[in-house]
Amino acid sequence: MTNILGIETSCDETSAAIVQNGRIVLSNIISSQIDIHKKFGGVVPEIAARIHLNVISQIVDQALTTASMNFNDINSIAVTCGPGLVGALLVGVSYAKTLAFVLNKPIIAVNHIAGHICANYLENDFEPPFICCVISGGHTNLIYVSDYDSFEILGRTRDDAIGEAYDKVARVLGLNYPGGPAIDNLAKLGDMHAIKFPQALPDGLDFSFSGIKSSVINFAHKNELTDELKKDIAASFQFSVAQIVLKKTFAACKLKSCKKIALAGGVASNSYLRKIFEIECQNQNCKLQIPKNIFCTDNAAMIAAAGYFCGQNAGLNLNAIPNLKLE
Ligand code: KG4
Ligand code: ZN
Repeated sequence: MTNILGIETSCDETSAAIVQNGRIVLSNIISSQIDIHKKFGGVVPEIAARIHLNVISQIVDQALTTASMNFNDINSIAVTCGPGLVGALLVGVSYAKTLAFVLNKPIIAVNHIAGHICANYLENDFEPPFICCVISGGHTNLIYVSDYDSFEILGRTRDDAIGEAYDKVARVLGLNYPGGPAIDNLAKLGDMHAIKFPQALPDGLDFSFSGIKSSVINFAHKNELTDELKKDIAASFQFSVAQIVLKKTFAACKLKSCKKIALAGGVASNSYLRKIFEIECQNQNCKLQIPKNIFCTDNAAMIAAAGYFCGQNAGLNLNAIPNLKLE
């Protein structure tokens, strides 16, 4: 039995979790800073780091208490070392190294994107190989996961990440940060075919979201933004980006002759996207795996899982690497 304590502080969630054998979640405590960053319309890196520092010990204590454990029951400590905001990452990395030193336990370095992918192993028996579409605030990637520790990036965004496009469109519509959940809800009330926004499909498996983002912003500036129109814009924008994600993911499946698809990252909690993937996977006889919503957005359970399946053993010289690569 391996109990891993996971620690995640790469952006605006301070999280600690205990996961057994990479799959069984014994606790997953998440303290979100959203209400503070909301005032600024986005994450302020310096503030994020300071808040992580204020709450991290409490969050780790709570993760242990919820799992009815103490530090002796932990086999190792997995921590996100990148990619992310350097100040924010440093809080988690320094805290994990201190714990590892004091408790004399191994430390495992985890890539945040690998964490999002490994969220798919939590509370189920899903296994590679599969195509994973990672869609978050900072990343949009199509990845072939041939084995637990083997990742091949097939496509990436050439400009904005999908979550960034959601957040910017939301801002233009006067919705609060983070825009994804706000657009998800508003879109339910609108007509997704009311406005035709462009669906950029660059060659190969790359993505591009800057065109649709600008197109929505221009449309919003040229028209009177009534409540009804805002609903239609949200629904039409969401329809177009979901079509892009769907088409590219199935193209990746075709390329790799793979019939298993996983979604990951904050945008994977989008209700419309989940629905159209379910329908299309049924039509095309593909197996679909999407983490529970709470494991899609940033959390430490996914970091503990990645620590188990594909983490790197690290020493006390571990550092934060803001632009850490996956492959
Ligand atoms: O994975 P995540 O928590 O953090 C990063 O690693 O970036 O993703 C955050 C992103 C934000 O852009 C947020 O607007 C988006 O995920 N998001 C959503 C939804 N929930 C969160 N986007 C669309 N629909 C949602 N329901
Ligand atoms: Zn993330």
